Amino acid sequence: MNFDLLQRLMGRFFPGRTRGAGAQGAGIALAEPLPCPAAPARPRPSGRLIRAPRRERPRPAPQPEAPPAMSAPSRPKRPWPEGLEESFGAYAAEDADMGAALRADLGQRLEALRKHLGGVEPDLVSLLERLGGGEIAETIPQIPAAAQRALSLTLDLETPTHELVSVFEGDPSLTQALLKSANSVYYGASESCSSIRNGIVRLGRKALRNVLLTQVLTGLVCRPGRAFGRMPEEVWEHLSASAPLARCIAPAFNADPEEAFAIALLHDVGKLVFFEAAAAARRKERRELSVGDLESLSLCLDVLHEPLGGLAMERWQLGERAVRLVATHHRRRPGSADRFPLGEAIFVADRVQLAEQGGSVDLDELWLAGRLNGSDVRAAKLLEVYYAQND
Ligand SMILES: [Fe+2]
Ligand SMILES: [Fe+2]
Repeated sequence: MNFDLLQRLMGRFFPGRTRGAGAQGAGIALAEPLPCPAAPARPRPSGRLIRAPRRERPRPAPQPEAPPAMSAPSRPKRPWPEGLEESFGAYAAEDADMGAALRADLGQRLEALRKHLGGVEPDLVSLLERLGGGEIAETIPQIPAAAQRALSLTLDLETPTHELVSVFEGDPSLTQALLKSANSVYYGASESCSSIRNGIVRLGRKALRNVLLTQVLTGLVCRPGRAFGRMPEEVWEHLSASAPLARCIAPAFNADPEEAFAIALLHDVGKLVFFEAAAAARRKERRELSVGDLESLSLCLDVLHEPLGGLAMERWQLGERAVRLVATHHRRRPGSADRFPLGEAIFVADRVQLAEQGGSVDLDELWLAGRLNGSDVRAAKLLEVYYAQND
């Protein structure tokens, strides 16, 4: 991604600032949930959004011991606190206990950030201490019981349909979301669907899980306070726009489209966890949190959101693959998550979605930066069709 694009993207996340962050939130309870955000209005991308691959090149073989890859060109290179570059992603070994490794890694990152920001950003430092104090699971919001139950049922393909029906019957908001998706054009709704059972059958288990995840995430878009501006909404808009992109390009990576939708929808959820923690701190202290420099907030989000997201996947019992993929979605270094083609689709969807605000994505650079093995030519064609259909 070129510098102009970078500037425009940062301007989108932080109007009036030269550089940006991402957004997120966590806390025991879901505080002050916003009304379910509507699907973002996607700007019509220019014809040059995707810069197609220019030449054939040898695919990089997975090399677990290789040094960290260069930062992708579409990301700003922010200075990270000393010591973090060596520690991040240390949980990527095949046989790692992901939960324990994520906690250890998060602790290292929090400590490095505390040292970096100490004496400069007291409220942010307090927030870091909140994230690091006690059991991290208490900081990550629990999802509503009905949604958690339904998610567990959708993960088991042997679950009888009537069990799913009974969960949806007890939750009007889930039922509403189910029927809305079942009647959408994407699922080929030629006939109106008004029964829960028919909706479940029409969508299938994987798409049903995505309906549930969408509902869960909308409940996580909180109000951490004035210092955070629209960051939670911006993150939600990014996630909800990345998901259909990932589903569209999944075949280029031999990945399952509905799984790609799910992980893309979740990939930056660590930012929402961070924002929820800020909202909880704001409620507890009954005052607005102060952030002196958005660069500092940006750094916290950038450094923390992968392990926080991975821990959220663990808390919500979405499976080890989801934990690994969310915790390593920036592909900053080779690791075991590289063996999942799904991760490549998420990586590309993330970058392409960010570029939707203007500029272009150079697929040659993207493939090198992410150590991607999927077909760039096919991905480019799928994206072309996607944008043609969604214009
Ligand atoms: Fe991210
Ligand atoms: Fe992202």
